[in-house]
Amino acid sequence: SEEEILADPVAKIASVGGTRHPSIPLPKDLFSPGHRNSAGIDLNDRVVLETTRKAVTTPLAAATLRASDGAGTVTVDDAITRADAAFPAWTRTPVEDRAACLDRLADLIEANRDELMAICVQEAFKSIPDAIGEVREAADFCRYYANEARNNLRSIELPGPTGERNTLHIEGRGVWATIAPWNFPLAIFVGQTVAALVTGNTVVAKPAPQTPLIAARAVALAHEAGVPRDVVILVPGGPEVGAALTSDPRIQGVAFTGSTATAKRIARTLLEDDARAIVPLIAETGGINAMIVDSTALSEQVVADVIASSFRSAGQRCSALRLLLIQEDVAEHMIAMLSGAMDTLTLGDPGDPATDVGPVIDQAAYDRLMAYRDRTRSQWVKTLNVPPGTEGLFVPPTLIRIDAIEDLNQEWFGPILHVATWPAGKLVETIRRINAKGYGLTMGLHSRIARAAEVAEAEAAVGNLYVNRSMIGAVVGSQPFGGERLSGTGPKAGGPHYLYRFCAERAVSIDT
Ligand code: NAD
Ligand code: ALA
Repeated sequence: SEEEILADPVAKIASVGGTRHPSIPLPKDLFSPGHRNSAGIDLNDRVVLETTRKAVTTPLAAATLRASDGAGTVTVDDAITRADAAFPAWTRTPVEDRAACLDRLADLIEANRDELMAICVQEAFKSIPDAIGEVREAADFCRYYANEARNNLRSIELPGPTGERNTLHIEGRGVWATIAPWNFPLAIFVGQTVAALVTGNTVVAKPAPQTPLIAARAVALAHEAGVPRDVVILVPGGPEVGAALTSDPRIQGVAFTGSTATAKRIARTLLEDDARAIVPLIAETGGINAMIVDSTALSEQVVADVIASSFRSAGQRCSALRLLLIQEDVAEHMIAMLSGAMDTLTLGDPGDPATDVGPVIDQAAYDRLMAYRDRTRSQWVKTLNVPPGTEGLFVPPTLIRIDAIEDLNQEWFGPILHVATWPAGKLVETIRRINAKGYGLTMGLHSRIARAAEVAEAEAAVGNLYVNRSMIGAVVGSQPFGGERLSGTGPKAGGPHYLYRFCAERAVSIDT
Protein backbone atom coordinates (compact mmCIF):
# COMPACT_ATOMS: atom_id res chain seq x y z
CA SER A 1 0.00 0.00 0.00
CA GLU A 2 1.03 3.60 -0.36
CA GLU A 3 1.27 3.95 3.43
CA GLU A 4 3.76 1.07 3.55
CA ILE A 5 5.86 2.64 0.81
CA LEU A 6 5.78 6.00 2.54
CA ALA A 7 6.77 4.45 5.83
CA ASP A 8 9.43 2.29 4.30
CA PRO A 9 10.23 2.42 0.59
CA VAL A 10 12.01 -0.89 0.91
CA ALA A 11 8.58 -2.47 1.35
CA LYS A 12 8.16 -1.66 -2.32
CA ILE A 13 10.61 -4.41 -3.16
CA ALA A 14 8.19 -6.94 -1.77
CA SER A 15 5.32 -5.55 -3.78
CA VAL A 16 7.35 -5.53 -6.98
CA GLY A 17 8.83 -8.95 -6.53
CA GLY A 18 5.99 -10.56 -4.67
CA THR A 19 2.71 -9.61 -6.12
CA ARG A 20 2.87 -7.54 -9.24
CA HIS A 21 5.44 -9.26 -11.32
CA PRO A 22 6.43 -12.56 -9.80
CA SER A 23 9.14 -13.86 -12.05
CA ILE A 24 11.82 -12.07 -13.95
CA PRO A 25 13.73 -14.97 -15.49
CA LEU A 26 17.29 -15.03 -16.62
CA PRO A 27 17.59 -14.19 -20.30
CA LYS A 28 18.09 -16.94 -22.77
CA ASP A 29 21.73 -17.53 -23.68
CA LEU A 30 21.27 -17.82 -27.40
CA PHE A 31 18.97 -16.28 -29.90
CA SER A 32 18.62 -17.10 -33.54
CA PRO A 33 21.36 -15.38 -35.55
CA GLY A 34 20.56 -11.77 -36.40
CA HIS A 35 17.56 -11.67 -34.07
CA ARG A 36 16.92 -8.08 -33.01
CA ASN A 37 14.07 -6.79 -30.92
CA SER A 38 11.92 -3.76 -31.80
CA ALA A 39 14.58 -1.38 -30.49
CA GLY A 40 17.12 -2.84 -32.90
CA ILE A 41 19.12 -4.46 -30.09
CA ASP A 42 21.17 -7.39 -31.36
CA LEU A 43 20.28 -10.13 -28.96
CA ASN A 44 23.48 -12.05 -29.61
CA ASP A 45 25.63 -9.13 -28.54
CA ARG A 46 27.69 -10.30 -25.57
CA VAL A 47 27.64 -6.90 -23.86
CA VAL A 48 23.85 -6.82 -24.06
CA LEU A 49 23.60 -10.31 -22.62
CA GLU A 50 25.99 -9.52 -19.80
CA THR A 51 24.26 -6.23 -18.94
CA THR A 52 20.91 -7.95 -19.02
CA ARG A 53 22.00 -10.71 -16.72
CA LYS A 54 23.14 -8.12 -14.19
CA ALA A 55 19.97 -6.08 -14.59
CA VAL A 56 17.68 -8.96 -13.74
CA THR A 57 19.81 -10.56 -11.04
CA THR A 58 21.24 -7.61 -9.11
CA PRO A 59 19.62 -7.62 -5.68
CA LEU A 60 18.00 -4.29 -4.94
CA ALA A 61 20.21 -2.46 -2.49
CA ALA A 62 17.80 -2.35 0.40
CA ALA A 63 20.30 -1.09 2.96
CA THR A 64 21.45 1.76 0.78
CA LEU A 65 17.88 2.73 0.01
CA ARG A 66 16.93 2.68 3.64
CA ALA A 67 19.87 4.94 4.40
CA SER A 68 19.19 7.32 1.55
CA ASP A 69 18.34 10.44 3.41
CA GLY A 70 15.79 8.68 5.55
CA ALA A 71 13.42 8.37 2.60
CA GLY A 72 9.98 7.84 4.01
CA THR A 73 10.71 9.26 7.43
CA VAL A 74 10.98 12.91 6.51
CA THR A 75 7.77 14.97 6.48
CA VAL A 76 7.07 17.53 3.77
CA ASP A 77 7.22 20.31 6.34
CA ASP A 78 10.61 19.14 7.71
CA ALA A 79 11.98 18.75 4.21
CA ILE A 80 11.02 22.29 3.19
CA THR A 81 12.38 23.72 6.45
CA ARG A 82 15.73 22.02 5.89
CA ALA A 83 15.93 22.93 2.21
CA ASP A 84 14.99 26.53 2.98
CA ALA A 85 17.76 26.78 5.57
CA ALA A 86 20.27 25.28 3.12
CA PHE A 87 19.41 27.73 0.33
CA PRO A 88 21.61 30.76 1.18
CA ALA A 89 24.85 28.77 1.28
CA TRP A 90 24.02 26.70 -1.81
CA THR A 91 23.03 29.65 -3.96
CA ARG A 92 26.32 31.38 -3.00
CA THR A 93 28.28 28.27 -3.97
CA PRO A 94 30.09 29.10 -7.24
CA VAL A 95 28.30 27.77 -10.30
CA GLU A 96 31.47 25.85 -11.26
CA ASP A 97 31.24 23.89 -8.01
CA ARG A 98 27.54 23.17 -8.46
CA ALA A 99 28.21 22.06 -12.05
CA ALA A 100 31.05 19.83 -10.84
CA CYS A 101 28.55 18.02 -8.58
CA LEU A 102 26.42 17.27 -11.67
CA ASP A 103 29.42 15.94 -13.58
CA ARG A 104 30.31 13.69 -10.64
CA LEU A 105 26.69 12.54 -10.46
CA ALA A 106 26.84 11.64 -14.16
CA ASP A 107 29.99 9.60 -13.48
CA LEU A 108 28.30 7.84 -10.55
CA ILE A 109 25.19 7.10 -12.61
CA GLU A 110 27.38 5.47 -15.24
CA ALA A 111 29.44 3.61 -12.64
CA ASN A 112 26.24 2.25 -11.06
CA ARG A 113 24.53 1.50 -14.35
CA ASP A 114 23.79 -2.15 -13.64
CA GLU A 115 22.12 -1.49 -10.32
CA LEU A 116 20.11 1.43 -11.71
CA MET A 117 19.00 -0.69 -14.65
CA ALA A 118 18.04 -3.46 -12.24
CA ILE A 119 15.79 -1.12 -10.28
CA CYS A 120 14.26 0.28 -13.51
CA VAL A 121 13.48 -3.23 -14.73
CA GLN A 122 12.20 -4.55 -11.43
CA GLU A 123 10.37 -1.48 -10.14
CA ALA A 124 9.11 0.20 -13.33
CA PHE A 125 9.05 -2.88 -15.64
CA LYS A 126 11.39 -1.15 -18.08
CA SER A 127 12.56 -3.34 -20.92
CA ILE A 128 16.33 -3.79 -21.22
CA PRO A 129 16.70 -1.29 -24.12
CA ASP A 130 14.54 1.21 -22.24
CA ALA A 131 16.54 0.73 -19.04
CA ILE A 132 19.77 1.34 -20.96
CA GLY A 133 18.24 4.51 -22.44
CA GLU A 134 16.97 5.64 -19.06
CA VAL A 135 20.41 5.50 -17.44
CA ARG A 136 22.05 7.11 -20.48
CA GLU A 137 19.54 10.00 -20.52
CA ALA A 138 19.92 10.67 -16.78
CA ALA A 139 23.70 11.01 -17.18
CA ASP A 140 23.23 13.14 -20.31
CA PHE A 141 20.94 15.57 -18.46
CA CYS A 142 23.58 16.01 -15.73
CA ARG A 143 26.43 16.72 -18.15
CA TYR A 144 24.34 18.91 -20.45
CA TYR A 145 22.97 21.13 -17.67
CA ALA A 146 26.42 21.31 -16.02
CA ASN A 147 27.86 22.68 -19.26
CA GLU A 148 24.97 25.06 -19.86
CA ALA A 149 25.30 26.42 -16.33
CA ARG A 150 29.06 26.89 -16.58
CA ASN A 151 28.73 28.68 -19.91
CA ASN A 152 25.67 30.85 -19.29
CA LEU A 153 24.88 31.45 -15.62
CA ARG A 154 27.22 34.38 -15.06
CA SER A 155 26.69 37.94 -14.00
CA ILE A 156 27.06 40.28 -16.96
CA GLU A 157 27.98 43.94 -17.19
CA LEU A 158 25.58 45.98 -19.34
CA PRO A 159 27.22 49.22 -20.37
CA GLY A 160 24.84 52.03 -21.29
CA PRO A 161 24.48 55.74 -21.73
CA THR A 162 23.82 56.49 -18.05
CA GLY A 163 27.38 56.44 -16.82
CA GLU A 164 26.32 54.01 -14.09
CA ARG A 165 27.71 50.53 -13.61
CA ASN A 166 24.89 48.12 -14.53
CA THR A 167 25.20 44.45 -13.69
CA LEU A 168 22.74 41.64 -14.30
CA HIS A 169 23.05 38.80 -11.80
CA ILE A 170 21.44 35.41 -12.29
CA GLU A 171 20.64 33.49 -9.12
CA GLY A 172 18.58 30.72 -7.59
CA ARG A 173 15.04 31.48 -6.40
CA GLY A 174 14.79 29.34 -3.27
CA VAL A 175 13.30 25.91 -2.63
CA TRP A 176 11.92 24.14 -5.70
CA ALA A 177 9.54 21.20 -5.70
CA THR A 178 10.29 18.67 -8.41
CA ILE A 179 7.47 16.23 -9.12
CA ALA A 180 8.11 13.31 -11.46
CA PRO A 181 6.09 10.63 -13.26
CA TRP A 182 6.74 6.88 -13.11
CA ASN A 183 7.36 6.38 -16.81
CA PHE A 184 10.85 7.94 -16.82
CA PRO A 185 11.49 7.40 -13.12
CA LEU A 186 15.23 8.03 -13.34
CA ALA A 187 15.83 10.28 -16.37
CA ILE A 188 13.03 12.79 -15.80
CA PHE A 189 13.38 12.73 -12.02
CA VAL A 190 17.12 13.42 -12.30
CA GLY A 191 16.75 15.94 -15.16
CA GLN A 192 14.32 18.27 -13.42
CA THR A 193 16.09 17.95 -10.07
CA VAL A 194 19.64 18.67 -11.30
CA ALA A 195 18.40 21.62 -13.37
CA ALA A 196 17.00 23.18 -10.20
CA LEU A 197 20.19 22.39 -8.28
CA VAL A 198 22.72 23.71 -10.76
CA THR A 199 20.87 27.02 -10.97
CA GLY A 200 21.40 27.52 -7.24
CA ASN A 201 18.09 26.31 -5.86
CA THR A 202 17.56 23.73 -3.19
CA VAL A 203 15.12 20.95 -3.98
CA VAL A 204 12.45 18.86 -2.32
CA ALA A 205 11.97 16.04 -4.83
CA LYS A 206 8.84 13.90 -5.06
CA PRO A 207 8.94 10.82 -7.27
CA ALA A 208 5.80 9.03 -8.46
CA PRO A 209 4.35 6.67 -5.84
CA GLN A 210 4.95 3.74 -8.20
CA THR A 211 8.72 4.36 -8.40
CA PRO A 212 10.24 5.56 -5.11
CA LEU A 213 13.22 3.19 -5.12
CA ILE A 214 14.99 4.43 -8.22
CA ALA A 215 14.48 8.02 -7.03
CA ALA A 216 15.88 7.19 -3.59
CA ARG A 217 18.94 5.71 -5.24
CA ALA A 218 19.40 8.78 -7.47
CA VAL A 219 19.21 11.12 -4.47
CA ALA A 220 21.74 8.96 -2.59
CA LEU A 221 24.09 9.24 -5.58
CA ALA A 222 23.59 13.03 -5.71
CA HIS A 223 24.68 13.20 -2.07
CA GLU A 224 27.65 11.00 -2.87
CA ALA A 225 28.49 13.39 -5.72
CA GLY A 226 28.82 16.24 -3.24
CA VAL A 227 25.35 17.82 -3.14
CA PRO A 228 24.78 18.56 0.58
CA ARG A 229 22.11 16.41 2.22
CA ASP A 230 19.74 19.31 2.88
CA VAL A 231 20.16 20.75 -0.61
CA VAL A 232 18.23 17.87 -2.18
CA ILE A 233 15.72 15.95 -0.07
CA LEU A 234 13.49 13.10 -1.21
CA VAL A 235 9.84 12.96 -0.15
CA PRO A 236 8.26 9.79 -1.52
CA GLY A 237 4.48 9.63 -1.71
CA GLY A 238 1.45 10.18 -3.87
CA PRO A 239 -0.86 13.08 -4.77
CA GLU A 240 -1.39 14.09 -1.15
CA VAL A 241 2.37 14.58 -0.66
CA GLY A 242 2.52 16.52 -3.95
CA ALA A 243 -0.38 18.71 -2.84
CA ALA A 244 1.21 19.39 0.56
CA LEU A 245 4.43 20.35 -1.20
CA THR A 246 2.94 22.68 -3.79
CA SER A 247 0.61 24.41 -1.33
CA ASP A 248 3.48 25.41 0.98
CA PRO A 249 4.23 29.11 0.45
CA ARG A 250 7.96 28.56 1.01
CA ILE A 251 8.15 26.69 -2.32
CA GLN A 252 9.51 29.16 -4.89
CA GLY A 253 9.05 27.09 -8.05
CA VAL A 254 7.62 23.79 -9.27
CA ALA A 255 9.03 21.57 -12.02
CA PHE A 256 6.36 19.00 -12.81
CA THR A 257 6.09 16.22 -15.37
CA GLY A 258 2.90 14.17 -15.55
CA SER A 259 -0.66 14.45 -16.74
CA THR A 260 -2.35 17.62 -17.96
CA ALA A 261 -5.03 17.29 -15.27
CA THR A 262 -2.44 17.24 -12.47
CA ALA A 263 -0.57 20.19 -14.00
CA LYS A 264 -3.77 22.25 -13.91
CA ARG A 265 -4.43 21.21 -10.32
CA ILE A 266 -0.95 22.35 -9.34
CA ALA A 267 -1.38 25.65 -11.22
CA ARG A 268 -4.58 26.31 -9.25
CA THR A 269 -2.88 25.42 -5.96
CA LEU A 270 -0.04 27.83 -6.64
CA LEU A 271 -2.52 30.68 -7.14
CA GLU A 272 -4.85 29.88 -4.22
CA ASP A 273 -3.20 31.95 -1.54
CA ASP A 274 -3.37 35.68 -2.37
CA ALA A 275 -0.48 36.43 -0.03
CA ARG A 276 1.81 33.94 -1.74
CA ALA A 277 4.55 34.88 -4.21
CA ILE A 278 3.77 34.29 -7.89
CA VAL A 279 6.01 31.32 -8.53
CA PRO A 280 7.01 29.67 -11.82
CA LEU A 281 5.52 26.34 -12.84
CA ILE A 282 7.32 24.29 -15.46
CA ALA A 283 4.81 21.65 -16.56
CA GLU A 284 5.55 18.93 -19.09
CA THR A 285 2.39 16.96 -19.73
CA GLY A 286 0.60 14.57 -22.08
CA GLY A 287 -0.52 14.57 -25.68
CA ILE A 288 -2.71 12.98 -28.32
CA ASN A 289 0.16 12.53 -30.72
CA ALA A 290 -0.55 11.90 -34.40
CA MET A 291 1.50 10.70 -37.36
CA ILE A 292 0.45 11.57 -40.91
CA VAL A 293 1.47 9.21 -43.68
CA ASP A 294 1.06 10.04 -47.36
CA SER A 295 1.19 7.87 -50.44
CA THR A 296 4.86 8.66 -51.14
CA ALA A 297 6.07 7.30 -47.80
CA LEU A 298 8.26 4.21 -47.71
CA SER A 299 5.87 1.68 -46.28
CA GLU A 300 8.46 -0.60 -44.62
CA GLN A 301 9.95 2.36 -42.81
CA VAL A 302 6.49 3.62 -41.80
CA VAL A 303 5.64 0.25 -40.29
CA ALA A 304 8.88 0.02 -38.31
CA ASP A 305 8.52 3.58 -37.02
CA VAL A 306 4.84 3.12 -36.11
CA ILE A 307 5.60 -0.08 -34.20
CA ALA A 308 8.40 1.60 -32.23
CA SER A 309 6.42 4.81 -31.61
CA SER A 310 3.24 3.08 -30.45
CA PHE A 311 4.25 -0.10 -28.70
CA ARG A 312 7.79 0.33 -27.40
CA SER A 313 7.72 0.93 -23.60
CA ALA A 314 4.22 -0.62 -23.80
CA GLY A 315 3.08 2.74 -25.20
CA GLN A 316 3.86 4.41 -21.88
CA ARG A 317 5.77 7.37 -23.26
CA CYS A 318 4.30 10.85 -23.41
CA SER A 319 5.83 11.11 -26.88
CA ALA A 320 4.15 7.88 -28.11
CA LEU A 321 2.04 7.73 -31.24
CA ARG A 322 -1.69 7.53 -30.46
CA LEU A 323 -3.34 8.36 -33.81
CA LEU A 324 -2.06 7.14 -37.15
CA LEU A 325 -3.50 8.99 -40.15
CA ILE A 326 -2.89 7.28 -43.49
CA GLN A 327 -3.73 8.81 -46.85
CA GLU A 328 -6.83 6.95 -47.95
CA ASP A 329 -5.38 5.70 -51.27
CA VAL A 330 -2.75 3.56 -49.50
CA ALA A 331 -4.48 2.97 -46.16
CA GLU A 332 -5.64 -0.64 -46.56
CA HIS A 333 -2.25 -1.77 -47.82
CA MET A 334 -0.39 -0.09 -44.95
CA ILE A 335 -2.85 -1.30 -42.32
CA ALA A 336 -2.36 -4.86 -43.58
CA MET A 337 1.42 -4.47 -43.34
CA LEU A 338 1.14 -2.99 -39.86
CA SER A 339 -1.12 -5.80 -38.66
CA GLY A 340 1.40 -8.33 -39.92
CA ALA A 341 4.25 -6.54 -38.17
CA MET A 342 2.32 -6.47 -34.90
CA ASP A 343 2.31 -10.25 -35.00
CA THR A 344 6.09 -10.21 -34.58
CA LEU A 345 5.95 -8.35 -31.25
CA THR A 346 6.97 -10.42 -28.25
CA LEU A 347 5.10 -9.86 -25.00
CA GLY A 348 7.01 -10.98 -21.96
CA ASP A 349 9.07 -10.31 -18.91
CA PRO A 350 10.76 -6.93 -19.06
CA GLY A 351 14.09 -8.43 -18.01
CA ASP A 352 14.23 -10.68 -21.05
CA PRO A 353 16.04 -8.86 -23.89
CA ALA A 354 13.79 -10.58 -26.42
CA THR A 355 10.77 -8.74 -24.98
CA ASP A 356 9.27 -5.99 -27.09
CA VAL A 357 6.25 -5.18 -24.92
CA GLY A 358 6.30 -5.59 -21.15
CA PRO A 359 3.54 -5.12 -18.58
CA VAL A 360 1.93 -1.77 -17.82
CA ILE A 361 2.80 0.02 -14.62
CA ASP A 362 0.01 -0.93 -12.20
CA GLN A 363 -3.41 -2.46 -11.73
CA ALA A 364 -5.24 0.86 -12.15
CA ALA A 365 -3.57 1.49 -15.52
CA TYR A 366 -4.28 -2.10 -16.58
CA ASP A 367 -7.96 -1.88 -15.63
CA ARG A 368 -8.40 1.47 -17.38
CA LEU A 369 -6.75 0.33 -20.61
CA MET A 370 -8.45 -3.08 -20.69
CA ALA A 371 -11.89 -1.51 -20.11
CA TYR A 372 -11.32 0.90 -23.00
CA ARG A 373 -10.06 -1.91 -25.18
CA ASP A 374 -13.19 -3.94 -24.40
CA ARG A 375 -15.48 -1.00 -25.14
CA THR A 376 -13.93 -0.57 -28.58
CA ARG A 377 -14.00 -4.26 -29.53
CA SER A 378 -16.13 -3.67 -32.64
CA GLN A 379 -13.47 -1.28 -34.00
CA TRP A 380 -10.45 -3.54 -33.56
CA VAL A 381 -8.37 -4.01 -36.67
CA LYS A 382 -5.79 -6.09 -34.88
CA THR A 383 -4.98 -7.24 -31.39
CA LEU A 384 -2.48 -9.69 -29.94
CA ASN A 385 -2.92 -12.43 -27.39
CA VAL A 386 -0.97 -12.65 -24.19
CA PRO A 387 1.00 -15.91 -24.41
CA PRO A 388 -0.44 -18.61 -22.14
CA GLY A 389 1.36 -18.81 -18.82
CA THR A 390 2.56 -15.19 -18.96
CA GLU A 391 1.70 -13.63 -15.63
CA GLY A 392 1.50 -9.91 -15.14
CA LEU A 393 -0.32 -6.79 -16.20
CA PHE A 394 -0.03 -7.24 -19.96
CA VAL A 395 -2.24 -5.11 -22.18
CA PRO A 396 -2.20 -6.66 -25.65
CA PRO A 397 -1.08 -4.21 -28.34
CA THR A 398 -4.26 -3.22 -30.17
CA LEU A 399 -5.01 -1.28 -33.35
CA ILE A 400 -8.40 0.47 -33.30
CA ARG A 401 -10.06 2.05 -36.34
CA ILE A 402 -11.83 5.37 -35.87
CA ASP A 403 -13.84 7.31 -38.43
CA ALA A 404 -12.55 10.80 -37.81
CA ILE A 405 -9.69 12.65 -36.17
CA GLU A 406 -12.23 14.19 -33.79
CA ASP A 407 -13.25 10.74 -32.46
CA LEU A 408 -10.16 10.50 -30.25
CA ASN A 409 -10.15 13.01 -27.44
CA GLN A 410 -8.16 11.42 -24.67
CA GLU A 411 -4.61 10.24 -24.17
CA TRP A 412 -4.72 6.42 -23.70
CA PHE A 413 -1.40 5.79 -21.99
CA GLY A 414 -0.60 2.26 -23.14
CA PRO A 415 -0.06 0.06 -26.21
CA ILE A 416 -3.23 1.14 -28.00
CA LEU A 417 -3.03 2.77 -31.41
CA HIS A 418 -5.89 4.37 -33.33
CA VAL A 419 -5.96 4.56 -37.11
CA ALA A 420 -7.99 6.74 -39.49
CA THR A 421 -7.58 8.01 -43.03
CA TRP A 422 -7.20 11.43 -44.63
CA PRO A 423 -7.93 12.49 -48.22
CA ALA A 424 -5.15 13.42 -50.67
CA GLY A 425 -4.59 17.16 -51.03
CA LYS A 426 -5.81 17.93 -47.50
CA LEU A 427 -2.55 17.99 -45.56
CA VAL A 428 -3.00 21.49 -44.13
CA GLU A 429 -6.58 20.79 -43.09
CA THR A 430 -5.53 17.48 -41.51
CA ILE A 431 -2.78 19.12 -39.45
CA ARG A 432 -5.15 21.88 -38.34
CA ARG A 433 -7.71 19.31 -37.22
CA ILE A 434 -5.03 17.61 -35.12
CA ASN A 435 -3.97 20.98 -33.69
CA ALA A 436 -7.59 21.67 -32.81
CA LYS A 437 -7.48 18.97 -30.13
CA GLY A 438 -5.56 21.47 -28.03
CA TYR A 439 -2.56 19.24 -27.29
CA GLY A 440 0.86 19.97 -28.78
CA LEU A 441 3.50 17.45 -27.80
CA THR A 442 4.76 15.34 -30.73
CA MET A 443 3.66 14.93 -34.35
CA GLY A 444 5.06 12.74 -37.10
CA LEU A 445 5.02 12.95 -40.86
CA HIS A 446 6.08 10.30 -43.33
CA SER A 447 6.37 11.72 -46.84
CA ARG A 448 8.99 11.94 -49.56
CA ILE A 449 7.60 15.25 -50.80
CA ALA A 450 9.83 18.08 -49.57
CA ARG A 451 6.91 20.53 -49.66
CA ALA A 452 4.91 18.32 -47.27
CA ALA A 453 7.68 18.60 -44.67
CA GLU A 454 7.69 22.39 -45.10
CA VAL A 455 3.91 22.50 -44.63
CA ALA A 456 4.14 20.38 -41.49
CA GLU A 457 6.92 22.60 -40.13
CA ALA A 458 4.76 25.68 -40.69
CA GLU A 459 1.44 24.27 -39.48
CA ALA A 460 2.11 21.70 -36.74
CA ALA A 461 1.56 23.34 -33.35
CA VAL A 462 3.70 20.84 -31.45
CA GLY A 463 6.88 20.92 -29.44
CA ASN A 464 8.54 18.08 -31.36
CA LEU A 465 7.90 17.36 -35.04
CA TYR A 466 9.46 14.21 -36.48
CA VAL A 467 9.69 13.67 -40.25
CA ASN A 468 10.42 10.25 -41.75
CA ARG A 469 11.44 8.69 -38.43
CA SER A 470 9.89 7.44 -35.21
CA MET A 471 8.37 9.84 -32.71
CA ILE A 472 10.21 8.71 -29.56
CA GLY A 473 13.66 8.98 -28.07
CA ALA A 474 14.53 12.69 -28.12
CA VAL A 475 18.26 13.15 -27.52
CA VAL A 476 19.35 15.56 -24.78
CA GLY A 477 21.03 18.65 -26.24
CA SER A 478 20.11 17.87 -29.86
CA GLN A 479 16.37 17.39 -29.66
CA PRO A 480 15.08 19.52 -26.76
CA PHE A 481 11.85 17.90 -25.63
CA GLY A 482 8.50 19.26 -24.47
CA GLY A 483 5.11 20.43 -25.66
CA GLU A 484 2.89 23.47 -25.82
CA ARG A 485 -0.76 24.35 -25.04
CA LEU A 486 -2.37 21.38 -23.16
CA SER A 487 0.97 19.54 -23.42
CA GLY A 488 3.05 21.88 -21.34
CA THR A 489 4.42 25.27 -20.49
CA GLY A 490 7.95 24.90 -21.86
CA PRO A 491 10.84 25.57 -21.73
CA LYS A 492 12.08 22.33 -23.21
CA ALA A 493 13.99 19.74 -21.21
CA GLY A 494 17.47 19.13 -22.58
CA GLY A 495 17.42 22.45 -24.45
CA PRO A 496 19.40 25.69 -24.19
CA HIS A 497 16.61 27.74 -22.54
CA TYR A 498 15.58 25.30 -19.82
CA LEU A 499 17.82 26.51 -16.99
CA TYR A 500 16.78 30.18 -17.17
CA ARG A 501 13.24 29.39 -15.98
CA PHE A 502 14.71 28.18 -12.67
CA CYS A 503 16.53 31.47 -12.05
CA ALA A 504 15.87 34.90 -10.64
CA GLU A 505 17.49 37.84 -12.46
CA ARG A 506 18.59 40.87 -10.49
CA ALA A 507 19.83 44.08 -12.10
CA VAL A 508 22.04 46.34 -9.98
CA SER A 509 22.84 49.89 -11.09
CA ILE A 510 25.54 51.83 -9.21
CA ASP A 511 26.29 55.47 -9.86
CA THR A 512 30.06 55.44 -9.71
P1 NAD B 1 0.26 12.01 -12.85
O1 NAD B 1 -0.12 13.40 -13.24
O2 NAD B 1 -0.79 11.13 -12.32
O3 NAD B 1 1.41 12.04 -11.74
C1 NAD B 1 2.62 12.74 -11.95
C2 NAD B 1 3.18 13.15 -10.59
O4 NAD B 1 2.32 14.11 -10.00
C3 NAD B 1 3.28 12.00 -9.59
O5 NAD B 1 4.47 12.15 -8.85
C4 NAD B 1 2.05 12.22 -8.73
O6 NAD B 1 2.16 11.65 -7.44
C5 NAD B 1 2.01 13.73 -8.67
N1 NAD B 1 0.71 14.30 -8.30
C6 NAD B 1 -0.52 13.78 -8.52
N2 NAD B 1 -1.46 14.64 -8.04
C7 NAD B 1 -0.81 15.71 -7.54
C8 NAD B 1 -1.24 16.93 -6.94
N3 NAD B 1 -2.53 17.22 -6.75
N4 NAD B 1 -0.31 17.82 -6.57
C9 NAD B 1 1.02 17.58 -6.78
N5 NAD B 1 1.48 16.43 -7.32
C10 NAD B 1 0.56 15.51 -7.71
O7 NAD B 1 0.98 11.37 -14.13
P2 NAD B 1 1.59 9.89 -14.29
O8 NAD B 1 0.48 8.94 -14.45
O9 NAD B 1 2.61 9.65 -13.24
O10 NAD B 1 2.40 10.04 -15.67
C11 NAD B 1 1.80 9.85 -16.91
C12 NAD B 1 1.50 11.19 -17.55
O11 NAD B 1 2.71 11.95 -17.64
C13 NAD B 1 1.01 11.05 -18.98
O12 NAD B 1 -0.05 11.97 -19.19
C14 NAD B 1 2.23 11.44 -19.81
O13 NAD B 1 1.90 11.91 -21.08
C15 NAD B 1 2.87 12.48 -18.95
N6 NAD B 1 4.31 12.63 -19.23
C16 NAD B 1 4.74 13.76 -19.88
C17 NAD B 1 6.09 13.91 -20.21
C18 NAD B 1 6.59 15.13 -20.94
O14 NAD B 1 7.80 15.34 -20.96
N7 NAD B 1 5.73 15.94 -21.55
C19 NAD B 1 6.99 12.91 -19.87
C20 NAD B 1 6.52 11.78 -19.19
C21 NAD B 1 5.18 11.67 -18.87
N1 ALA C 1 11.92 12.13 -24.04
C1 ALA C 1 11.07 10.99 -24.23
C2 ALA C 1 10.97 10.63 -25.68
O1 ALA C 1 11.39 11.42 -26.50
C3 ALA C 1 9.73 11.23 -23.66
O2 ALA C 1 10.46 9.60 -26.01
